[in-house]
Amino acid sequence: MTINSKDDLIKHINRVIISPEKIAERIKTAGELISGWYDGTPILLVSILKGSFVFMADLARAIDVPCEIGFMAAQSYYQGTQSSGVVNITMDLAQDISRYNVVIVEDIIDTGRTLNDVVKLLKARNPKSLRVVTLLDKPERRVVDFKADFSLFTIPDLFVIGYGLDFGEYYRNLPYIAEYCE
Ligand code: IMP
Ligand code: MG
Repeated sequence: MTINSKDDLIKHINRVIISPEKIAERIKTAGELISGWYDGTPILLVSILKGSFVFMADLARAIDVPCEIGFMAAQSYYQGTQSSGVVNITMDLAQDISRYNVVIVEDIIDTGRTLNDVVKLLKARNPKSLRVVTLLDKPERRVVDFKADFSLFTIPDLFVIGYGLDFGEYYRNLPYIAEYCE
């Protein structure tokens, strides 16, 4: 994919599958649910970069328990739509998580490999508790058995872009979630 102009980007946006309004509505529900889980107890929200940065910003503002924010980067896709099957932690948390109730915030669960590895790694550090919230879930694509504690949207086996999700590092700034087409 060579991007020289706005038209080069737009021609790969097949159709909008989740509107900004629908996303906002589900985030309100997710925020209330998460706030209810912890009932005023402080939490640490851990965003898995880069894909979850937009979702994290909106979700954090929908949560009303005291919360700290942390970032981790995991890479499993390299310039394409197929998982490489190798999960690399390229940036780790700065916090010692043993005194935290941790909520992992992910953009999408596809094969399940990324979160399976991230959860294993974080559990080994003995957090007080650990839950996973994902914006999108593609259960049909699962290779390892993994379930989030809460998923905002279940989608079919499509490659999606926008609202943080990329193809070749583009499209993260779209305000909606769309299907990508070659
Ligand atoms: P998994 O390890 O296969 O579950 O893949 C998780 C990661 O792959 C996500 O955090 C995304 O970064 C990326 N990914 C999976 N499916 C899509 C998609 O449809 N669009 C964009 N990125 C995706
Ligand atoms: Mg991701």
